[in-house]
Amino acid sequence: MAEPAHPLLGLLDRGDIVFVDAWRQGTSSAAVAAAAGGVAVAGLLAMLVLLTVRGWWRPLWRDWLTSLDHKKIGIMYIVLALVMFARALAEAVVMRTQQAVAVGDQGFLSGEHFGQLFSTHGSIMIFFMAMPFLTGLINYVMPIQIGARDMSFPFMNAVSLGLTAAGAALVMTSLVIGRFSTGGWSGYPPFTGIDFSPGPGVDYWIWAITLTSVDSTLTGINFAVTLYKERAPGMHLMRMPLFCWTALCTSILMVFSMTPLTLATLMLWLDRHFGFHFFTVAAGGNLMNYANLFWLFGHPEVYILILPAFGVWSEVISTFSAKALYGYRSMVYATMCIAVLSFTVSPVP
Ligand code: HEM
Repeated sequence: MAEPAHPLLGLLDRGDIVFVDAWRQGTSSAAVAAAAGGVAVAGLLAMLVLLTVRGWWRPLWRDWLTSLDHKKIGIMYIVLALVMFARALAEAVVMRTQQAVAVGDQGFLSGEHFGQLFSTHGSIMIFFMAMPFLTGLINYVMPIQIGARDMSFPFMNAVSLGLTAAGAALVMTSLVIGRFSTGGWSGYPPFTGIDFSPGPGVDYWIWAITLTSVDSTLTGINFAVTLYKERAPGMHLMRMPLFCWTALCTSILMVFSMTPLTLATLMLWLDRHFGFHFFTVAAGGNLMNYANLFWLFGHPEVYILILPAFGVWSEVISTFSAKALYGYRSMVYATMCIAVLSFTVSPVP
């Protein structure tokens, strides 16, 4: 079981603030962490000052944050994805630099810090860059293509965006206080269990991923229902642009594959803090259950990301070459087959 947590700060304490840690340790690794935390705090402050000086708080709240318009929600998803992309890209540069200078040497990062970097980089690229980007794109384009006024559930759409934004905020907070998980983007136990990772890092990972996976489930339901129910008169399924077909297959994959991930992270949380033993072999659990749940999500995830991109290429190329899409019907069937087959491909034996 975990050590008893502080009633207000949980597993965190004052020494977990990266600036305090850098002051105490004085290592290059802690200095890099403090610099990254400093950039995050400075960015936040600059944004608050800009909003105040320009008087943008009210329009931001009225026209954007509380908007249920699918186009605005789509744009906000894409902005979130680009902000997170900037961070993950910066982390990639730091990792590559460390790898370049650390030949036969420790380099400027500790092993633990490098572990945090590839874990945040991988988790952000998949869950907070690629997924929000395509969710934003579908949000913006799909209702227009099928002639719908909005999503079937506009409020749920806004809530979904809020869930992923909250997950991203958690990942950003870990830059300033506490440490992130070193368990990689897949978070396999037993390494991420309480015995090997007693700190708050894995909990940051668990909650960030849980929030965004719930978002993706709700978004999948929203997209699928919109595509089934909100098409304009005359827009039969087989007349839909191919991008809408890929969006439909992606949304069905989202509904069925994000739930196992949500379950896996919640079970890991129960293992870590409430003495459950879903994944602890010594107490009768089985860590392969985690691997199976994770890859029930992990492989369809690849197709969740690539199918809408296929749809974009098909539409852009046929539109700009002013020709009807060649083999439309077979492409639709192929996309549906890919969606079904994606569940049968698993790296777990
Ligand atoms: C400029 C582009 C990029 C560079 C230089 C880069 C670099 C890296 C490096 C150095 C690692 C760690 C390797 C290791 O030591 O284990 C890594 C891991 C990873 N990257 Fe990237 N990356 C880039 C773009 C991307 C993109 C676009 C994605 C996904 C959309 C991505 C997803 C991942 C994932 C999932 C991991 C594995 C993380 C883990 O082990 O948990 N990367 N990348």
